[in-house]
Order: sequence, then C-alpha cells, then structure tokens
Amino acid sequence: MFYSVYGDILPLRVLEEISFWKLQEKEHALLLINSFVGLEPIYVDTLEQWAIDFEETEETSNDYLRAYGQSTLEEMYTIEELTPFIKYCFDESNAFIQFLAEMINNSIIVETLRFAPILTDHVIRESKYFIDITTSIITGEDIDFVIE
Ligand SMILES: [Fe+2]
Repeated sequence: MFYSVYGDILPLRVLEEISFWKLQEKEHALLLINSFVGLEPIYVDTLEQWAIDFEETEETSNDYLRAYGQSTLEEMYTIEELTPFIKYCFDESNAFIQFLAEMINNSIIVETLRFAPILTDHVIRESKYFIDITTSIITGEDIDFVIE
C-alpha cells in the first residue's frame, strides 16, 4: 500500500517526473559525446545508443501521460500497474550509471580531460537523483536530497 500526498493523481505525477528525467538523461548522453572530443568510438556509439534508449523511454512515458488525458479516473493506470515500467526506468538509469563509471575508469581520452570527472559525476548524480526523487514521490517520504 502506498501513501502519497498526490492521491489519485500519483501515477500522473510519477510519469511527469519520468518524462522530465529521461529527457535530461538523453541530453546528458549527447552532452558527453559533444564534450569529450576524441572519445573512443566504442563509447561514442554506446552513448548514442543510450540517447536513443532514453528517448524511447521518455516517449513511452509520454504515451501513458497522453492516455490519462483521454481517460476517466476509473480507467487510469494505478501506480501498481505502472510498477513494471517504473522499475524498468530505474534499472535503465542504474545501468547508465554503471556504464559511466566504467567509462571514466577505462577511457584513455577521458583520463586526459581535466573536466571529465566533474561532468560525469554531475550526470551520475542526476540519474541517482531521478531514482531517489521518484521513489520519494511514490512512498510519500520526506525529500531530503541536496543536488550540487
Ligand atoms: Fe544536468
């Protein structure tokens, strides 16, 4: 059982959060490609694939949101029904975080760029923030998270 101040519109609130952050993650993937000049092709290709994946997830979330616009309250997806999709979104962000950590440790090019760790840390932190804030919205816990 979930407690949330959002009541019946909780699924809507969660989907809005997902759409927003999946767009951010897509932009982050593209930002890293453009910032890390000379990055090894394997990482460029993988980041391009991440951008495509995040766009698809955002689009799925937007499809759900559009469906709400056409439904009555009884027909709306419940948060329980959306749980597999929400879990997919979290798993995707966690896999992105893992990939970035691996890239920062193994890329020769990234190692030569002084600003690379700061930028990558920012991207990792925001994906973590997406998971934390969305979890907090669902569980109704107080949000105590400082974003740097
Ligand atoms: Fe950002």
